[in-house]
Amino acid sequence: MAVLQKQLTSQQAIELEKKYGSNTYHPLPVVLSRGEGVYVWDVDGKRYYDFLSAYSAVNQGHCHPKIINAMVEQAKTITLTSRAFYNDKLGLYEKYTCEYFGFDKLLPMNSGAEAVEAAIKLCRKWAYEVKGIEENQAKIIVCKNNFHGRTTTIVSFSSDSTSNKNFGPYSDGFISIDYDNLEQLELVLKNNPNIGGFLVEPIQGEAGVYVPSEGFLAKAKALCAAHNVLFIADEIQTGIARTGKLLAVDHENVRPDILILGKALSGGAYPVSAVLAENRIMDVLTPGTHGSTFGGNPLAAAVAIAALEIVKEENLAENADKLGKLFRSELSKYIATSNVANLVRGKGLLNAVVINDTEESDIAWNICLALRDNGLIAKPTHGNIIRFAPPLVMTEEQLLDCVDIITRTFKQFEK
Ligand SMILES: Cc1ncc(COP(=O)(O)O)c(C=O)c1O
Repeated sequence: MAVLQKQLTSQQAIELEKKYGSNTYHPLPVVLSRGEGVYVWDVDGKRYYDFLSAYSAVNQGHCHPKIINAMVEQAKTITLTSRAFYNDKLGLYEKYTCEYFGFDKLLPMNSGAEAVEAAIKLCRKWAYEVKGIEENQAKIIVCKNNFHGRTTTIVSFSSDSTSNKNFGPYSDGFISIDYDNLEQLELVLKNNPNIGGFLVEPIQGEAGVYVPSEGFLAKAKALCAAHNVLFIADEIQTGIARTGKLLAVDHENVRPDILILGKALSGGAYPVSAVLAENRIMDVLTPGTHGSTFGGNPLAAAVAIAALEIVKEENLAENADKLGKLFRSELSKYIATSNVANLVRGKGLLNAVVINDTEESDIAWNICLALRDNGLIAKPTHGNIIRFAPPLVMTEEQLLDCVDIITRTFKQFEK
């Protein structure tokens, strides 16, 4: 029998991954085989609400027909040309996306971490060639508890020891400050003339959905501007309608100097990421200074245009804003009387519930197992924090059904 035709049980699928796969993840034990809109199904045909959305990649819902059609049509035509030649889709995608987000130029990449790497290179080159920092002296300010990906340079400035222990020697050139701390940002900017950029998540997703104080992003951007430092927004998780606006920085009317996108740029159909900037910054990159065999391929271009069109056609930002408010207000009512859940926080449909236990506890994991049994899948970001981020195509009725599942499940853990 052809390999892919083999029907696996959950146990068989899990055992295969355990035996033949590198052990870099700790998945919730559920084996998915189909997805449509806000739902996924396991190999036994059990249906779940998806409350992770592949870490906010599937904002447009699983297997959105418009994305799949664009993908299939393009796949039948041409998938990859490499950048050694032009293709007839890349320019259309670049123009569409630049106009969509209001930037001059786009640098196409594939994964999120690759786009962050590209943004770091772009920032450094700008720092040397435009700002005039002495060679090899440029520094980028980053925040503690950040998550920007898994490459060696990126984990060098992670404060999570699991992600960087024994992966040294670490890359130099980063200064860490506390998230949401304008005093520290100002102090570093004042005392160091060699700062090229400030790389920040507008909401820290992986850290546990930390929303900064109101005004932080706008003031941080103003401080950067005053010191001729690039404000680099990593919107890989927060962007593309997830937080109730097209970008999370839009909540404070901030325009980043460099914008990094990934995940939902393809609606989860294909790895597509991008760095956007104005010409005054992007033009420091010249032939040979950066590239990727797959970056900017016509399949990615076709998929991304469809994914972005859906966000506007289906008013996903407005829906995320409306349902996010409903989610937090409904859960807050339950939390007010709960001794299990302490707090719900977030913006739009990027939310987290903080549980009344220590970070080291396994309560969040156990609640996620019970949620799974009750028909909803979510994943802890820490021992006591569960992120809730469904696809943005959810209806109000579905959301209320999910609130019911979540509160019923939490109640099973009341002491
Ligand atoms: C804010 C942020 N940046 C970067 C990344 C890395 O993206 P990828 O896993 O596609 O490399 C992630 C992934 O979760 C993220 O949330």
